[in-house]
Amino acid sequence: MLNYNNPQLVIESAKAKEGKITWRSPSNIAIIKYWGKHGIQLPRNPSISFTLENAYSETTLAYRPKDVDSSYNEISMNFIFDRNPNEQFKNKTVKFFESILDIFPFLKQFHFDITSRNSFPHSAGIASSASGMSALSLCICSLEHKYFNTLDDDAAFRQKASFVSRLGSGSACRSIYPGMALWGESPEWTGSSDLYAIPVDDTHEVFKSYHDDILIVSKGEKSVSSRAGHGLMDENIYADNRYKQAKNRLRNLKSILQQGDVEAFGKIAESEALVLHALMMSSNPPYILIKPNTLLMIEKIHHFRKEMKVPLYFSLDAGPNLHLLYPDEVKTQVQEFITSELLPHCENGQWIKDKVGRGPLQMD
Ligand code: DP6
Repeated sequence: MLNYNNPQLVIESAKAKEGKITWRSPSNIAIIKYWGKHGIQLPRNPSISFTLENAYSETTLAYRPKDVDSSYNEISMNFIFDRNPNEQFKNKTVKFFESILDIFPFLKQFHFDITSRNSFPHSAGIASSASGMSALSLCICSLEHKYFNTLDDDAAFRQKASFVSRLGSGSACRSIYPGMALWGESPEWTGSSDLYAIPVDDTHEVFKSYHDDILIVSKGEKSVSSRAGHGLMDENIYADNRYKQAKNRLRNLKSILQQGDVEAFGKIAESEALVLHALMMSSNPPYILIKPNTLLMIEKIHHFRKEMKVPLYFSLDAGPNLHLLYPDEVKTQVQEFITSELLPHCENGQWIKDKVGRGPLQMD
């Protein structure tokens, strides 16, 4: 089993200098969903996603050697989110750094000032753990490389960044790659692993310029976090069948992606979204994250697809907002439909136009 623990990654005191590293890393939308985990952030089933372009986090990790009299056993940091100190993010990040000390022992040697922002409106109800945790993990891997010259090879760098992102938030490990990424062992996909995501490059051209327009149905805080939702899967009576279904679907998806079959692709994406929410509704205690306007828009999408014969399908994250998936060639028609039929049902008419993206970017 791959093990990145390395007690030798300690910097000679005289060589530790101050500096900063910035990464911009995108969010992603899962087509086959990760829902249910075990052990240390290991998925119960493989998942696959589109990496997005416009919805991203930009994170700067500023570091300076600790003062001689400060403790080397503690993580020291400040966390500024959207220009304001954020205690909640700080506490979460301190815990995350503590959990990866065996991999990066040098994290104890610095004080960190972390600054982060999202491109999408704060509290737009878009999951930010994938973009935020991947941006941070990329910064840490860059810091390792700067001092130890260990990650020169791009594939090795990304694999480690994906491994570390996974420990922060499962879905984050897929954001490391452009286009599509797969996380979790799946026999048909060579090199796939439960420990990190791998890039999926051999898809049909149509999927390389796919759109994902995010329609904001509600910006409210989720009543149940994803973390708690994963936990409830342990007792869900449908869990085993669900994991089997996801594995089978991933098997079928390979040829669908290669052939460019947008209808078969859309059917799977839509069913995955509905199954995810059905699992929430059949948890104990049960809970519902979709809103009346989510259902209203779903009906309109179904009607539009049937009448206009346009391959417009939807997905959902763990929340009420709709992700509209469609190929570039039907862009004009779909965006007219969104403007006239769907926007009136969005909170403050909010709509984030996104598409398959180029993956994370180092900014300095
Ligand atoms: C519904 O990755 O947010 O978006 O590992 O506990 O941080 P943690 O969970 P998280 O779960 C994401 C669930 C999902 C589906 C998916 O992205 O695959």
